[in-house]
Amino acid sequence: MRIAVIGADGQLGSDLVRALAGDQVTPLFFPAFDVTDPAGARRSLEAIGPEIVVNTAAFNRVDECEDDPWPAFRLNALAVRDLSQAARDLGFCLVHFSTDYVFDGRRNTPYVEDDAPNPLSVYGVSKLAGEYFVRARADRHFLVRTSGLYGSAGSKDKGYNFVDRIVSLAGEGQPIRVVDDQRVTPTSTAELADRLSALIRTDRYGLYHMTNEGSCTWYEFAREIVSLLGREARLEPVSSRSLGAKAPRPAYSVLENGRAKEIGLPEFSPWQAALRAYLRRKGHLA
Ligand SMILES: NC(=O)c1ccc[n+]([C@@H]2O[C@H](COP(=O)([O-])OP(=O)(O)OC[C@H]3O[C@@H](n4cnc5c(N)ncnc54)[C@H](OP(=O)(O)O)[C@@H]3O)[C@@H](O)[C@H]2O)c1
Repeated sequence: MRIAVIGADGQLGSDLVRALAGDQVTPLFFPAFDVTDPAGARRSLEAIGPEIVVNTAAFNRVDECEDDPWPAFRLNALAVRDLSQAARDLGFCLVHFSTDYVFDGRRNTPYVEDDAPNPLSVYGVSKLAGEYFVRARADRHFLVRTSGLYGSAGSKDKGYNFVDRIVSLAGEGQPIRVVDDQRVTPTSTAELADRLSALIRTDRYGLYHMTNEGSCTWYEFAREIVSLLGREARLEPVSSRSLGAKAPRPAYSVLENGRAKEIGLPEFSPWQAALRAYLRRKGHLA
């Protein structure tokens, strides 16, 4: 298949390019390809003539969005509107990613695709607006909500990923304060890319939750990283508020991979197994 990947050097984008190596992939890099320049983006896509366009570009700095919503709305919503319109006009299938932060987290059982979103943060609202544009304009689409991504490339937007950060801090002997009031499912971009490669070969378009299995708080996640490394790090559980986070975040944002299981996609591993595989790939474990 002819597939264009937007944000090809991001943490998910780079694993997608790897997972789709058997296809005819055109990796698109910012700023040469800028999704917020609708005319330029459309011209490039017209020239490539892809059957599928995978959009991984996003503004992900959740706290910054509270003071200045514009960059998030520009990239997470308006650019997605234009890309969705291009999908309709040029006839490609659009793959787009959203987030567990579209939910308010006021419950304690996993959210399914049919649950009503109710984002708490500006970031969550901008991502939900993007979802609505995809659903309204891209006739054929896969809209994938995921959570707590970590991948070998590290988040391009944030400049690090949680696992690599804990690995590096664990060597320093200082106390490491980690949030213990948000329950999530950390998800390996390598696994997500692999499952996505299976999904796009179907015609089962629509909305999907796709994360690793199980759940933990960020503190529990950090504890597992340190324990797998066999290090003696001083981890301290703290509340998000005490770390001065500007944006409210859901206390519970675990997603159930309901539709992915229904259509028989290969299941995701438990988050602990995916973490172990990641640490092994990065050379931290034998
Ligand atoms: N990270 C998470 O924990 C998480 C959780 C839930 C959902 N998601 C969603 O998953 C998707 C992938 O996230 P990620 O962590 O892989 O992001 P990432 O590492 O920040 O990668 C984003 C990519 O998009 C590129 N990009 C930025 N602005 C662009 C523009 N205007 N036009 C074209 N490309 C642009 C970036 O390039 P430059 O770096 O050169 O700017 C980068 O290559 C996003 O939709 C995100 O919202 C992420």
